Amino acid sequence: MPRKKTPKFQSLTGMHDILPEDQKYFYEIYKTAKNIADFYGFGEITTPILEQAELFSRGVGMATDVVKKQMYTFRTKGGELVTLRPEGTASIVRAYIEHGMRTLPQPVKLWYFGPFFRYEKPQGGRYRQFWQFGFEIIGDASPVEDAQVILIFYKILEELKLKNLIIQINSIGDHQCRPYYKRLLGSYLRAHHSSLCADCRRRIKENPLRVLDCKEEKCQSIINSAPQILDHLCRECHDHFKEVLEYLDNLGLPYHLNPYLVRGLDYYTRTVFEIFAEQEEFHELGDQESKNNQEKKESLSIISKNALAGGGRYDTLVKLLGGKETPAFGAAGGVERIVEAMKFAKIKLARTQKPKIFLAQLGKQAKREILRLIEEFRQAKVPVAFSLSKDSLKSQLKLADRLGVKYTLILGQKEVVEGKIIIRNMQTGKQKITATKTIVQEMKKKISK
Ligand code: HAM
Repeated sequence: MPRKKTPKFQSLTGMHDILPEDQKYFYEIYKTAKNIADFYGFGEITTPILEQAELFSRGVGMATDVVKKQMYTFRTKGGELVTLRPEGTASIVRAYIEHGMRTLPQPVKLWYFGPFFRYEKPQGGRYRQFWQFGFEIIGDASPVEDAQVILIFYKILEELKLKNLIIQINSIGDHQCRPYYKRLLGSYLRAHHSSLCADCRRRIKENPLRVLDCKEEKCQSIINSAPQILDHLCRECHDHFKEVLEYLDNLGLPYHLNPYLVRGLDYYTRTVFEIFAEQEEFHELGDQESKNNQEKKESLSIISKNALAGGGRYDTLVKLLGGKETPAFGAAGGVERIVEAMKFAKIKLARTQKPKIFLAQLGKQAKREILRLIEEFRQAKVPVAFSLSKDSLKSQLKLADRLGVKYTLILGQKEVVEGKIIIRNMQTGKQKITATKTIVQEMKKKISK
């Protein structure tokens, strides 16, 4: 086989085109999120893709990988330091403050869907441009809000027909109890300093909690024996978390307490969570060696390992970004990861209505007329197929056949002059001639039979 030539221009590493065959998954995810958002009273918000760099360095945290390594930051011609948004929460909080949403009835509930940018090492399920949908509830400290957002994300994934969903949940305390835990964790980690990766050795100084987030193999055994924050929560954080879990129990949502879940962003307080789609088959496949199974195993492992959604409480962010002290809770789902999980699980989407009619034309005048007719069908909400680029009737009929339509309408010069059109039954090959004026109504009746 001849080797395929690499095109001169390709999409950038970690960035990808969303081709027509994938748009339907994106749309399905958008639609499912929107339906739930409408029901639960979340208003949709779209914020700019570019923001002041400081919004994220301050909001997300200087010690986080997102700010330290992954931001697309540059100076504009006007000298402003700007960043392609790596996440949505800081922008939503900025908008909440900027538009004086504090004067609205609280809590304010907002949701969004759009592209985000992180200069990550591209690997399975990790891109440099990716899409998220997020839900934020700003202005309520109650644990019931934590439970409602977790429920919403679980239900969106369930309605997208994903199975074996599991919620990993933890509480990372607040300004009262976390400083003590951080010191405790810091001294434990310092005792294991030499066995940690270079990044973690730095993290101990900046924020030891970030070590718990490390994915390096060599750090895992140290992380797994580290002191657990759940043992050191203050009374208020403990009660808050207990209540969240009671709500989840009552809703029958499956969760798993993960004392080392801290999430990669600095703004969280108290509850944090992530949702995974665990793949049972992964275990069943065992060590079958065929290449296909090996590939399947790899995709399964990527899907099982990557969180489909994650979020938590962020009671200090509004104040940190210049607003009044305002509690909040939110989460975001990764659209590409959900699409991959849906494809892997072979989840079928409801098909868009396939056209049952093909419109064929022969000659310049007929082409002009057919253009008008196509629009008439569209307004009547009758899907039709056509090929304006093909001039020969034979090739148009061949295409109509391939598309499996029931009828082809044929318009030639003679028919245009007479105000007529031919209806061809594609199964029987029988043809009849009829008035163009009433064709849309006639066809509507025919295909509804
Ligand atoms: P996050 O966990 O960084 O949280 O991102 C949320 C989701 O986005 C992840 O669970 C994952 O599915 C997807 N995601 C993140 N990074 C990538 C990537 N490089 N490639 C593909 N998918 C990715 C946040 O962004 C928070 N703002 C969520 C939040 C909202 N917390 C409170 N409110």
